[in-house]
Amino acid sequence: MSSPDRYAVIGNPISQSKSPLIHTSFAQDSGQDMVYTAIEGPLGRFAATVDAFRAEGGRGLNVTLPFKLDACAYATDLSEDARAAGAANALKFEGDRVRAQNFDGIGLVRDITHNLGHALQGRRVLLLGAGGASRGAILPILNQAPACLFVANRTVAKARDLVRGFHASGASETLQGGGLDDIGQQTFDVIINATSASLSAETPALPASAFVADGLAYDMVYGKGLTPFLRLAQQTGVRHLADGVGMLVEQAAEAFAWWRGVRPATRAMIERINVPLV
Ligand code: ATR
Repeated sequence: MSSPDRYAVIGNPISQSKSPLIHTSFAQDSGQDMVYTAIEGPLGRFAATVDAFRAEGGRGLNVTLPFKLDACAYATDLSEDARAAGAANALKFEGDRVRAQNFDGIGLVRDITHNLGHALQGRRVLLLGAGGASRGAILPILNQAPACLFVANRTVAKARDLVRGFHASGASETLQGGGLDDIGQQTFDVIINATSASLSAETPALPASAFVADGLAYDMVYGKGLTPFLRLAQQTGVRHLADGVGMLVEQAAEAFAWWRGVRPATRAMIERINVPLV
């Protein structure tokens, strides 16, 4: 009998990762013969750790902080999303080829459009932050043909540079960038917090007038309950609030489908690991 195919998530720290739970459950549900573990990668030793995993027969990895850039550098073939994000969150090993993908943005968009039922097409979208999380979300959002995608960041130059880079590689003029002050009196149907502010219980200083009551406020962090950003939205009267649990599960489902050719159902897992927004 052949041994099961091996997959893992690599990060540092890694004990908090939900990926082993999610993928093990996906494998059981879809009858896939695989094992999925967690690897705490020593800092500065990403390539050596992945080499060892491949030598033991590893077929694919999820990659989390702080190794997403290393994963891009390690790969031989980058998807368009991984190239645009400059970061990879999934690797697939095929002989001497190392294929890299970044499913975070696709997971975000699928959660918003499919699970939460907010179409992005023709809508005004505000993306807060200009770090890696924001960068990875831009192309998948633009692919939904929003009326506008405004990237607003505390450090204005970072948002402008980020947007300029996307324009240089052909992104449409619906993509704009600026500071939080540049939001002014504009309103947005969907506001996504891609800053790391929620991790330190802060909120980006955006005007409450940017929200619309029937819009969606989405915080990419997972499991922090009602973050200051979501609380601001709620106090402003926004009726639809979400954290990143669906994004987490949907990006996992995309990676699973890419590796195994079977897309698992996600709703039960989202409900299982959801932390209520209180
Ligand atoms: P990530 O890869 O998670 O996006 P990052 O590259 O460190 O992390 O970027 C963090 C983002 O959160 C940045 O856009 C940062 O804004 P600056 O570029 O001005 O630093 C944003 N951020 C972090 N804390 C914030 C806060 N309290 N208010 C507003 N923006 C904040």
